[in-house]
Amino acid sequence: MRNDYNGIANYYDRLSRIVFQRSIIKAQAYLLEFVQDNNRILLVGGGTGWILEEISKLNKQNVSVVYVEKSAKMTELSKKRKYKNISVEFVNSPVETYTTQQQFDIILTPFLFDNFIDKKIKYIFSKLDTYLKKRGFWLYADFVNDKQNNKAWQQLLLKTMYTFFKLTTNIETQKLVDLKGYFEEKYVMITQQFYYKHFIQAVAYRKIR
Ligand SMILES: C[S@@+](CC[C@H](N)C(=O)[O-])C[C@H]1O[C@@H](n2cnc3c(N)ncnc32)[C@H](O)[C@@H]1O
Repeated sequence: MRNDYNGIANYYDRLSRIVFQRSIIKAQAYLLEFVQDNNRILLVGGGTGWILEEISKLNKQNVSVVYVEKSAKMTELSKKRKYKNISVEFVNSPVETYTTQQQFDIILTPFLFDNFIDKKIKYIFSKLDTYLKKRGFWLYADFVNDKQNNKAWQQLLLKTMYTFFKLTTNIETQKLVDLKGYFEEKYVMITQQFYYKHFIQAVAYRKIR
């Protein structure tokens, strides 16, 4: 299976903290400032689910999350998290096959799209876009792909990461796609924040069309 995180789920967070310290957490915590009372959130690729505890800590009223995660092991770990004051529906399946009649206030895709080839990104992006309400927020966090401005060590780290994930998860791509162009047509960028010497970005987009 491609993009199979089951084998590394148990040590994924530890590894990510060793390499990136708290940058991955900070980037996502920053985006969570957009969560308001009564929001319905579609969260795709949440990993071990630590972010559910962060959403819960916001102490907002009546927040619900649909948690779409391909890995059974990641989903199992996520279910064990402490998230008492939010309601969570777990969907253990690839987002490609997830369908719903619901409309969401927020779509959250943290370090999801770095897994896919461009064709798959196109498919998933347009699918998720139909589930987001007009004026809703798409909260996006991922690595920065900027060949001109990325430092040599960042290019090397990216290459090393893709090799590591090829060996451990059979990741389907070896190339980080810049999603900026996907958002251009219907979204405006509200804020963008960088972490880890400009190697990690957290971006909030608002759907205007
Ligand atoms: C790089 S990890 C990021 C985990 C988490 N967001 C974090 O920042 O710690 C990518 C996650 O996306 C999940 N994933 C990969 N492909 C997916 C797909 N097609 N549909 C849903 N989840 C997917 C993986 O199982 C994994 O948990």
